[in-house]
Order: sequence, then structure tokens, then C-alpha cells
Amino acid sequence: MQEKFYKEALSAKIFEYITKATEELQLESYVIGGFVRDYILQRTNKKDIDVVTVGSGIELAQKVAELLPTKPKVQVFKTYGTAMLRYDDLEIEFVGARKESYSEESRNPQVEEGTLQDDQNRRDFTINALALSLNKNSFGKLLDPFNGIKDLENKIIKTPLNPDITYSDDPLRMMRAIRFASQLGFKIEDKSLTAITKNVNRIDIITKERIVVELNKILESKKPSIGFLLLEKTGLLKKLIPELTDLKGVEEIEGQKHKDNFYHTLEVVDNISVNTDDLWLRWSALLHDIGKAPTKRFNKNIGWTFHSHEFVGSKMVYKLFKRLKMPLNNKMKFVQKMVLLSSRPIILASEVTDSAVRRLIFDAGDDIDSLMTLCEADITTKNPKKFKRYHKNFELVRIKIKEVEERDRIRNFQPPVSGEEIMKTFNLKPCREIGILKEAIKEAILNGKIPNEYEASYEFMLKKASELGLKTA
Ligand code: CTP
Repeated sequence: MQEKFYKEALSAKIFEYITKATEELQLESYVIGGFVRDYILQRTNKKDIDVVTVGSGIELAQKVAELLPTKPKVQVFKTYGTAMLRYDDLEIEFVGARKESYSEESRNPQVEEGTLQDDQNRRDFTINALALSLNKNSFGKLLDPFNGIKDLENKIIKTPLNPDITYSDDPLRMMRAIRFASQLGFKIEDKSLTAITKNVNRIDIITKERIVVELNKILESKKPSIGFLLLEKTGLLKKLIPELTDLKGVEEIEGQKHKDNFYHTLEVVDNISVNTDDLWLRWSALLHDIGKAPTKRFNKNIGWTFHSHEFVGSKMVYKLFKRLKMPLNNKMKFVQKMVLLSSRPIILASEVTDSAVRRLIFDAGDDIDSLMTLCEADITTKNPKKFKRYHKNFELVRIKIKEVEERDRIRNFQPPVSGEEIMKTFNLKPCREIGILKEAIKEAILNGKIPNEYEASYEFMLKKASELGLKTA
């Protein structure tokens, strides 16, 4: 039964060729790591396959390519002793089994050839050290020296060797442990958590880009709070995103408290993850309140305030992205915009006027739906009556947005009277007055004074221009 199950893991045609090539070169080879783990967990969309061979991975890859009818190109990474080829929609990476020893300053180890067991020893987690034989006489046999199968069943993340060594050798594994916990809903064994906490400063030798890959995977998991709570608990979050840990804690003055904005943020991230897979909208949820730490004040009459935290927060987004070497592109601008506008629909929910809705559509443009999704996720009140009321209000806001949008077409607003036409009408060269007139028309439309139409805007412009003393040409 078990045998059949593992053989089925290797039913893709590519494995036949690898077995044949292994035989011809008289090597041993195995599929190892994530592909085996995900197959057992029945996570079936894994497209990258790691093959380890006792010998040269590059030679094996070249032999496989030679045997394959498609004769794929082999990409060789000499420095790492690895090679990669593509077949169907699969990406297969070949590496020679190795022993590794690491130095303090770098995550690039000294490498020596080794046995399969040596290679399994150097892997990050027991659940990632599982190997399936691709050798003809033992095809599909599972090699599991650390009882990774049991850890998969018990949903435990554990290192094959002393965790202190595994994490210190390659500190990226601290992020990976937490990422797997979040992605798979697994628990990290206590010994491992202690070792991560001890080794947090070792994260400094890891490039920001690799760290962000893991942060993104945590954010993309079903319940990202699992990962962020672990990042916080181990001290990694304070090193990587201190803007978030600064939100921790509840202060009380004269009997007035504010909520713990860190735990609130995590709730918002979990809430939004039910409704969207968009990574950048999830980042927006994660960062929507970061401006609250630097803007927090206590006022005797009104209690705790966080004035302009949305504005301050949106500026902080830039610094944070820059520090983490994340792309400073449209995605960042989207996150900034979401943070900046994050309180607007909430204000609307208490009084929905047409002009406020028009302004919101004008400012949010095509991102209005994302903004509404963020604001709905922001409702974390534990009072069921309030919870219901807020959601109901947002439903009204959504209906109103649709109505106003159908009528006034404010999204991607284009001024109905162009600057050129203003210049022609009053025989003007470029000057301040043109801007004043354009702004006045826009304001009149947003305030509902005039409809978003050419005729009305033209009339309005003539009136406004005469107030400014302009004469038609
Ligand atoms: N590995 C490791 N230490 C790392 C990275 C990877 O020991 N820092 C090993 C693990 O055995 C892992 C394998 O290399 O299973 C392949 O790594 P990778 O492709 O990065 O990850 P996967 O485990 O395949 O998982 P995912 O695709 O979800 O990242």
C-alpha cells in the first residue's frame, strides 16, 4: 500500500528518464525535499523538483537532457555544483549529495562530496529531508532517517540535527521555519523556537531579498497571524519590521485605554486574507496602522488620539520598503494609497453623503474596491451589535458608491473642460488662472453643485472666469 503510494508520486514521465540516466552513469539518485513533503501532504501544485545524486548533479542533468526527446537546455550553476532543466511544466534541479560546513560570516558553506545520509543531515527540517529512491532496484522507496513522516503527521517542524547549529549555519532557515508553520499550520518544536530566539542576530547575514520572499509567503498563507506572532515571539519581527512591534501594548491614563494596535493589525490581516489573495492588499492591511505609534497622544478631554496617522503611516511605508529592498514601484504606491485612505470609508459609514462618496471615488480611483475590502477587514470589534452595525453601514457605502459612480462617473476623473479650451476661450497663455478654473470645476462637480458634464461645466467656468475678471476672446 505505502509502496504504491510513493511510486505514484513518481508517475510523471520525467522520473523514468532520470532513472535511466542514473543507471547509465551508474549513480544513485533520489528526489528530495519539498516535492516529497508536498506530495505526502497532498499539496499537488509543486512544480520544482529537487534531485540529489551521489556523484555529479551536472553530469546527471546533462545525461537526462540527452535522453529526453525534447532535448532541453541544461542550465549549469558551476559555483553551486547544480544544474537545472525544464520538462513539461516542471523545473528539475540536480545536485550532487554533499556534506557542508559553515563559517560565521557567510551562509555559503564549504562543500565536500558526501553520501545521501550526509546530504539529508544538512537539510533544514525533518519534513524536508524525506527522499524517494529513483534507483531502478528500489524505485519509490522512502528514505526517512529522521522520522519526518511522523513529524508531518504530528504537524511539527523540527531540525534533523541540533537546531542551534542548523539555524546558525543558515539563518534563513529561521524565516523558513516560521513560514512553513504559517503555510502548513504546523507547530515549531520548543527546542527550535529557543534556538531561533538565540540566533536572531544571525539574520543580519541574510540578504533582504531572501527575507522578503519568506515574509511574502507568510503573508500569503491562509492565516498570516500564525507567522507574524512567531516572528514577534522570537524577536525577528523587531529586527525586521520594528514599525509593527512599536504598535504593541496598551497604555492607560486616567482610566482611558487604547486598543493594542499590534494584535488588532494581525486580526485585520487574517480578516482580509479570507477575502483576498492579493499580496499587496495584504501588505496594506499589515501596515495600515503603523503611523499610530509615532502619532499617539493623550488628550485630557478626548482621550487617546492618533492624528494624521494615515498620512504619517503612508510616508513610513516608503522607508520600510526601501529598508527591506522591496521594489519602490506601483505596488508600493498602492500600499501607500491604501494606508493614506484607510480611515476614509469608516468616517463615511456614520454619514453617507453623495459628495463625500464622490470625493472618495475621486481619491481612490480604480482601487476603491480594494479600499472597501481593507476597511471591512478593519472591523475587529468584539461587540456583536457594533460589528453588525458597521458591516451594515459599509454595505450602504458600497451601494452608494455604485449609485454615485453610475451617475457621476468620477472614477478616473477627466476634467470636462480642458486647459486648452480655457486658454482658447479667454485668449490666455499658460497662467495661474487656468489652474484655478480647472480646480473650481472639479470642486463643483465633487460637491454636487454641477453634474459631471461638459455643458454645465462650461457654463460654470464662464461664471467663475467673470468673477476673476477674465473676458472671452
Ligand atoms: N533547504 C535547506 N535549507 C534552506 C533551503 C532549502 O535545507 N535554507 C533544502 C530543504 O531540504 C528543501 C530543499 O532544500 O526542501 C529545497 O528548497 P526550496 O526549493 O527552497 O524549498 P522547498 O522545501 O522545496 O519549499 P518551497 O517550494 O515551499 O519553498
